[in-house]
This record gives sequence, C-alpha cells and structure tokens, in this order.
Amino acid sequence: MEFSIKSGSPEKQRSACVVVGVYESRKLTLAAELLDKAADGYISGIVRRGDMEGKSGSTLLLQNVPGTLCERVLLVGLGKEKNFREKEFTTAIRNTVKTLNETGAFDASIFLTELPVKKRSIGWRIRQATMVAFDATYKFDQFKSKKDEVRRPLRKLTLAVERRNELTLAEEALAQGLAIAEGMAMTKTLGNLPANICHPTYLAERAQAMAKEFNLGCEILERADMEKLGMHSLLSVSQGSRQPPKLIVLSYKGAKASDKPIVLVGKGVTFDTGGISLKPGAEMDEMKYDMCGAASVLGTMQAVARMALPINLTIVVPATENMPDGMATRPGDIVTSMSGQTIEILNTDAEGRLILCDALTYAERFEPDTVIDVATLTGACVVALGHIATGLFSNKDALARDLLDAGDESYDRAWHMPLWDDYQELLKSPFADMGNIGGRWGGSITAACFLSRFTKKYEWAHLDIAGTAWKSGADKGATGRPVPLLTHYLMQRAGKLN
Ligand code: BES
Ligand code: MN
Ligand code: ZN
Repeated sequence: MEFSIKSGSPEKQRSACVVVGVYESRKLTLAAELLDKAADGYISGIVRRGDMEGKSGSTLLLQNVPGTLCERVLLVGLGKEKNFREKEFTTAIRNTVKTLNETGAFDASIFLTELPVKKRSIGWRIRQATMVAFDATYKFDQFKSKKDEVRRPLRKLTLAVERRNELTLAEEALAQGLAIAEGMAMTKTLGNLPANICHPTYLAERAQAMAKEFNLGCEILERADMEKLGMHSLLSVSQGSRQPPKLIVLSYKGAKASDKPIVLVGKGVTFDTGGISLKPGAEMDEMKYDMCGAASVLGTMQAVARMALPINLTIVVPATENMPDGMATRPGDIVTSMSGQTIEILNTDAEGRLILCDALTYAERFEPDTVIDVATLTGACVVALGHIATGLFSNKDALARDLLDAGDESYDRAWHMPLWDDYQELLKSPFADMGNIGGRWGGSITAACFLSRFTKKYEWAHLDIAGTAWKSGADKGATGRPVPLLTHYLMQRAGKLN
C-alpha cells in the first residue's frame, strides 16, 4: 500500500473515498462538518435519523454524497469526544482500513489524522496512523494453498493534516511510521514461521540478507567459535538439538565511530520443548514464538537502518533450539558460563537465561553505551502483567524511565518491575555459583536477577515479552512487539522524535 500526506478540505478530494469521523451523541468532527456544509446537510440528516450514532467501531459507507468530488464517504464512529484517546484513535484507523478493504475503493483520504488526541502531536498521529494502517493489512498466508484474496484491495492511503505548514513534519513522521511498520511485519513473519523452517541457520541467513541490503556489519559465530569463547551455558542448551546453534551479530553505523553503540540482545530459541524438563503437550506449538526477542531486534535493526538514524546500533542474537535428546543437558548438570560463573541447571526449561547470559557477556566487547535484552523469558511475567504490558527490569533507573516513556509514546507499553537484591538469594545453589531457577514465586524477577549477574559492566535493561510478543486464540499470531517501543527509544536517543 502506498501512503501520502495532504492538506486540503474533504469536499474537494477526488479520491475514491473520503473518511471522516463522527463522535458519539452524533457530533460531527470538523471535516465531517465541512462535507456536510458542501452537501447541504446530507450528513447531519443521516446522523439525525440515527443511521450513524458515532459509537466506537461503527462505520457507514455513503455513495454519491452531493456537493463532493469523491465517489464515497466513509463515516467512522469515534465514541465519546472526551474519551477520544490513543486506543480510540488507533481503533478508528484500524477499522477504517479493514472496512475500506471490503469496499470497491482503491484509494482513500483519511481525515481522522486531523483529530486532536490528548497530549499527542501531529507527528504522533501520523506515525501511529501509518503503523496501524500498515499493520491492519498484514497477512501470513504463505502456507495456505488457497489464499483469502481481498477482491479490491486498498492501494493508496492519503493522510490529512490541517495546515500546510505541518506537511514537512508529517512527511517525516510518515516515513518513520512506515519504517517501523515494515520492521514489525518482518518480526511478525519470523515469529509466525514454524520451527521446521525458522531454525537458527534460517535466522542467520536472514541476518546475512539484511546485512547485504542495508550495508550492515555481520558476523555469525558457529558452535566451534562458541566453544573457543567458553560459552558453555549457551552450548548446554543446544547440545540436545540436531540444528546447529548460531550467534548472530549485526552492526549498523549511523554515527561517528567513536560513539559507543547501543546493543540489543534478542532471545532466539527457535523452538522450546523444555528439553529434558519437558513442557506439557497443550499449546506446545506456541513455543515456535520463543524466538520473538530475536525477531524483534532484527525488526528494530531494519527500521533503524531504513530511517538512517544517526546512532550506532549492534544486535546480538543467540539462536538455538531447546530439545530433549540423549545428548541433552540433564537437570543437575553444572556448566561454566563465558563470564566464568558456574551454573547448576536445575530446570532445562529455564533455557532463555542460559543463552542470554553468554550473549550478554559477549556484548561487553562492543564497549556498549547501553545494553537491552528482549526475551520471551517467563510464563510468570504473563501471570503478572497479562498480555498488555511488557515486563521491564533495569540496573539503571534513568534507562528504565526512558524505556517506559518510549513505550508510552509508541503505545507499546512496559511496566517497571523490581530488581532488588532481596530476590537474589532465591538463586542460591549448594553446588555452583547459582542455580538457573529461583523457585515458585516471582519467577519473572528471579529470571531478571539471574541476568543481572552478567550485566554488571554496563547500563542494562531487560524486556520480558512472554505476554506481549504473540496472541493466542482466534487471531493467533506474532504481534511485532516490542519493535515500536525499541524504535521509539532509539529515535529519542537520536533526537528524531517529534
Ligand atoms: N519460553 C519460556 C517462557 C514462556 C512460557 C513464554 C510460556 C511464554 C509462555 C521459557 O523458556 C520457560 O520455559 N520458562 C519457564 C521458567 C521456569 C522453568 C523457571 C517458565 O516460565 O515456566
Ligand atoms: Mn523454556
Ligand atoms: Zn523459552
């Protein structure tokens, strides 16, 4: 789909469809009023007769509205004006795109982007509208022999701004929104791909392809390289799998070489059976999503490269399967991590931390400004925060603050969880420096505490996306989160957010 920005009045648009909003209790938005004037009260008549009451989620398609130059007008219900916030705004945009795809219109001019959203700038509205509209057309049907074709798909979307002097800013926000949306789409597709296709080698190949396309530095470490580096914790997870592990490194240089890079580390368990501590069978298929951390840092890298942000960014992806096998790690096995700390593996299903700890130690060599890891790490995080907020942990409050703000700005929200020393004792082991699990309670916190033992040399944050990276049920699939949060954080760091 093609996107563009325009300023102008709705009655003068020659597009196949003009989209305007109606608030609940039948109040017309400014653009709807302009159309209504040109149409001599045609729209207010419809609203008065009760055919469009402005309820959030409702739409009404009109043909040949008098006094206008467009073929159709789509009225979109917005809910109560005083409650019109982020959620209502994005819902209206999503509904619009879904509805337009069911009409014959090939192009449309959307005036909803002119609507005020409390505390949000024009840049925000355009960026969000672009992201949501693009995302609303996402499909993952490459394995369906018979595809659900949209008969007359929307090809061109024009987003309206009120004033001409907003055009430049809006154009920039549009480009950002598209870069983020495309990053999210890649993240979703990698997440949705089954584990027999999306294995560590596949992820490495995708990274190499990205490196070529965007001129990134790329290094793939093989099992032998990991052995040399002493990554025995990571290797212990891989040893029960026929698929070779990979440690993928991509680096983007948008700033001067002396600027320390921000490093993103993404958990890339392409399938998590639990290993010898085997998971129960129900819904085990969903463990193909256990590489969504990896997918999100790859998607973020793509968005950053597309936006050409003036920062240095490196991503590190430890990629492996977690399988049960004659060679697999046994509960009670003790391994030495790259950091030299020893770990008693009490539960082979707590594998994410085992691969991340070595990747986090490896990250030291980039002399990072900041390190953020992203992982579908614990079921306990889903118990704590559900599917709404990502769990956020950090050894630096200012960094936590910045990430919370980025989550709020992108409407991809996180919640700050504690990382107090009091929790550290739960990781005690009688035989090694630590165990890899902390017992029944506070599981997302003890997992973060485990990681914190490997991140003492830099400012670090950890995002537990177990509840937010994918959806189960009817619209099952990867969500593309937290690409919006991460890209907004990086845009902020680059001074490119307005
Ligand atoms: N990948 C899982 C976490 C997970 C579970 C994400 C369910 C989403 C939904 C992770 O590797 C895992 O198995 N964690 C264990 C840790 C436990 C053994 C301490 C968990 O959360 O049960
Ligand atoms: Mn696991
Ligand atoms: Zn896992």
